[in-house]
Amino acid sequence: MIAWNRKHLLGLQELSREEIELVLETTASFKEISSRDVKKVPALRGKTVVTLFFEPSTRTRVSFELAAKRLSADTLNITASVSSTTKGETLLDTAKNIEAMSVDAMVVRHSTSGAPMILAEGLNCSVINAGDGCREHPTQALLDIFTLRERFKRIDGLKVAIVGDILHSRVARSNIWGLTKLGAKVTVCGPATLIPRGIEAMGADVSYNIKDVIKNSDAVITLRLQKERQQDKFLPSVREYSQLFGINQEKLSQGSSSLIVMHPGPTNRGLELSAEVADGKQSVILDQVTNGVAVRMAVLYLVLGTKEN
Ligand code: CP
Repeated sequence: MIAWNRKHLLGLQELSREEIELVLETTASFKEISSRDVKKVPALRGKTVVTLFFEPSTRTRVSFELAAKRLSADTLNITASVSSTTKGETLLDTAKNIEAMSVDAMVVRHSTSGAPMILAEGLNCSVINAGDGCREHPTQALLDIFTLRERFKRIDGLKVAIVGDILHSRVARSNIWGLTKLGAKVTVCGPATLIPRGIEAMGADVSYNIKDVIKNSDAVITLRLQKERQQDKFLPSVREYSQLFGINQEKLSQGSSSLIVMHPGPTNRGLELSAEVADGKQSVILDQVTNGVAVRMAVLYLVLGTKEN
């Protein structure tokens, strides 16, 4: 097993297969802690972790905070609406002022692709990307990959479809980087207007036929239709999108009974997937959320344990 040597986690594009496997192994060793009566170990005692969120979040923010607390770190949440960026301060200045209070790690979500890189270059503390624009959401992909590996006991050779708004999806991009490095065959599927040109260069196949995709997949990751990022009209109507690409029980029955349905959340029930599917026995959506805490414990532990910190 290789040693972790990164101060920051900015994306899966730059991670090697061995580094991703190390995160997955570390996650497996941390998962059991959350099922104990006393859900706490002293691994990060004395460290301070700040979550700095400039976009809404339920799962990522809460699970980073729980992860840090379960490792005995001190935590603090800052959201955009209460930060001084609303008074004209730059993101980097805000972050430098927070860091000046002896912070060890900053977990950042921002609508601008690349914002965590700017902070990583300008700060001395560790920076963890909690989702930047349409670029990457590395811990979401790591928890998706961990959930797949837990279910299928392998990633190599697994057929994974990512369905929906690929164009605006940082989850899709991080999953393509991560899954293909581990040997999975990834197919993206959705309306042509929501599939970015050149996505094949990242290692994914493209299909516009949802029935074929379901028939030939071990897992389907459905994505939220990101209305907030769609300045242009990418779809004739949301209803048509739902009819063509929304995952319902009828479409799901075309595939194997062992096929699993995933979704990073938040879900638009009745749009990208039906309530019946979201709550059905092939759905692992809540397993993903559970695994998110263990993945974020692993990431915090690894980045804060590097020699540079
Ligand atoms: N999957 C995800 O990033 O969810 P949140 O927006 O709730 O953090």
